[in-house]
Amino acid sequence: MSSRSPRFGVLHQSNITMFFFSLALSFMLLAGGLFGSEARAEYGDIVLNNYSDKNGIRPVIFPHWFHRMRYACKSCHSDIGFPFKAGGSKVNMLNIISGEYCGACHNGQIAWSVENCDLCHSALPNTPTQVHNSVLRAPK
Ligand code: HEC
Ligand code: HEC
Ligand code: HEC
Repeated sequence: MSSRSPRFGVLHQSNITMFFFSLALSFMLLAGGLFGSEARAEYGDIVLNNYSDKNGIRPVIFPHWFHRMRYACKSCHSDIGFPFKAGGSKVNMLNIISGEYCGACHNGQIAWSVENCDLCHSALPNTPTQVHNSVLRAPK
């Protein structure tokens, strides 16, 4: 009995150490994931870069799934007139400020307005127009 409990005590302590070590590690990984990395296109996101790089601003990430969960296909692909092709609308800032395409909603009423440049222009420079990891179209 007396020979077992100290050994058990040692094991127990190293378990606690391991627990806090892995807890610290998870926090580091989590913080790295949340704060340490650039905004990147996720699966199914659309990157728009017809004009951005040429004009010295980051390309746009349009999170398609995020929007599809909120609106019917028809709202964008019929009512607003977005074609079924990444980059096909050739939307630019003038369109958007005039209330067309993204600007039909990103007008400070339906959704936050065009002043939030970084929320749209969030892709890494030189990311081509594409559907990120699309199963329909391979990146150019
Ligand atoms: C709601 C999303 C959105 C916001 C917010 C936004 N943009 Fe854009 N912007 C776009 C899209 C989409 C394009 C076209 C992307 C492409 O094909 O390169 C674009 C294109 C551009 C271009 C390329 C040429 C042109 O004039 O169209 C510039 C420069 C630009 N934006 C600057 C800005 C600045 C500066 C802001 C903030 C004041 C801003 N954008 C806010 C979506 C946005
Ligand atoms: C909030 C607007 C919005 C909604 C809602 C939406 N889409 Fe889109 N979709 C877009 C935009 C923007 C593009 C890119 C078009 C462009 O760049 O001109 C696109 C592109 C596409 C593409 C072309 C992808 C490729 O391979 O090039 C397909 C297919 C598509 N959408 C299907 C759908 C379907 C199906 C739904 C409904 C379940 C839907 N979309 C809902 C905005 C929307
Ligand atoms: C049919 C309306 C509609 C259209 C069109 C639309 N958006 Fe949005 N978008 C929204 C709404 C609503 C939100 C959520 C706003 C909020 O959370 O306050 C949003 C959010 C976003 C977000 C943030 C997503 C997140 O994870 O929080 C981005 C980026 C974005 N839109 C980009 C665009 C771009 C780029 C276009 C044009 C290619 C576009 N949107 C067209 C309605 C629209």
